Amino acid sequence: MKALKSLSYTIFFENCLNELVHFLSENAYSKVLVLVDSNTEKYCLPILQEHLGAAFQFDVIEVDAGEENKNIDFCIGIWKMMIDFGADRNTLLINLGGGVVTDMGSFAASTFKRGIDFVQIPTTLLSQVDASVGGKTGIDMDHVKNIIGTFSQPKAVFIDPVFLKTLDERQLYSGFAEMIKHGLIYDRGLFNQLKDLKPYEITSEIIYQSIQIKNEVVMADPFEKGIRKILNFGHTIGHALESYSLENDKNPLLHGEAIAIGFICEAYLSFKQNSLPQNELLEISSLLNLMYPKYSFNEKCFPDLLSIMKNDKKNSLNRINFSLLSSIGHCEIDKFCTDDEIFESLNYYLNS
Ligand code: GLY
Repeated sequence: MKALKSLSYTIFFENCLNELVHFLSENAYSKVLVLVDSNTEKYCLPILQEHLGAAFQFDVIEVDAGEENKNIDFCIGIWKMMIDFGADRNTLLINLGGGVVTDMGSFAASTFKRGIDFVQIPTTLLSQVDASVGGKTGIDMDHVKNIIGTFSQPKAVFIDPVFLKTLDERQLYSGFAEMIKHGLIYDRGLFNQLKDLKPYEITSEIIYQSIQIKNEVVMADPFEKGIRKILNFGHTIGHALESYSLENDKNPLLHGEAIAIGFICEAYLSFKQNSLPQNELLEISSLLNLMYPKYSFNEKCFPDLLSIMKNDKKNSLNRINFSLLSSIGHCEIDKFCTDDEIFESLNYYLNS
C-alpha cells in the first residue's frame, strides 16, 4: 500500500481497504452510510463488505447509474434517505462508485446539515485518477456539467485498482483519457508511456503516477485560481459535447470519450494560438482518433455547442476560457478564442 498526503487528508493506494477498517475504528461515527449506484451495488459492494466483515454495520443508499442522473432530483433522493436512516452530523458517508457517485455523494454530504464527513472509494479508472482527488463536488443542471457544487475535502480517499476488474473496456478507455490528459499537460514522459499502451495493460504504477500529478496540481491551487485550471485542458469543448450528447443520443458519449474529442479540438486551438508545434498536434490527433470511436455530428450543431460553452462555469467576462498546450507536457491557462476559431477546431476534428 502507498499513502499520498493531499490537502487535509491522505490518499491510500492499492490494497488499502484494510486502511478503511482502521479509519472506521479510529473515528467513532454514529452511523455509516454507503452510497452506491446500480453497478457498484452489484460488483463492488460485496468486495467492500468482505473487507469490513460483520464488525461494521452500515446502511446502503442506491442511485441509478449514469451521468444523466447526476442532478438535484437524485440528490434530494439521497438527502431523504439520509433523513430516513436517521443520519446526524456525526454520520459518515462512504461514496463507492465512479465520478457520478463521488461527485454527487460528496455534494450531498457537504451540504447535509451543513456538512457531514465523507470518504471516497472510487471504483472506475476515471474517478481513481481524477474525480475522487481534489475536493470538487457537484451535480449537473440544465445540461451544464457540474454547474452546482462546492469545494469540500473528503476525510480520506481509498483507491484500489482491484475495482477496475469490474469495468468493461469502454469504461477503461474513458478513464484512460484523463491519464492521457495528465501526460499532455504535465509530463511528456507519461504521455510517451501511455501512447504505447492499451487501457487494459496499464499497471498500478502508472495509475499512481497519474494520481500523483493530479494531487500535485490540486495541492498547489486547491480552489482553481491559477495552475489547477490546466486540468481543464480539453474540457471546455469536451464538456459541451458531453452535454450535447447526453441530451441528443440514445447511447451518449462517456466523459472520457467526450474530452478525447475536446483534446483534439483544443490541441488545434493550441496550435493556432499557443505555438503548439504542428507535428505535436498531429501526434495528438492521430493517437486519439485511433483510440476512440469517431463521434458523428455536423456543422448544424456548432451553435448549440457554442451556447453550452458560453454557460461554462470557467468563463469570466462573457469570454470562453481555455487552457491550451504550448507543447506536449506543458499547458498555459486563461486563453481566449473567437467563435470562429472554435468552429474551425470542431471542423478540424471532423476532418482529422
Ligand atoms: N477535474 C479537474 C479538477 O479536479 O480540477
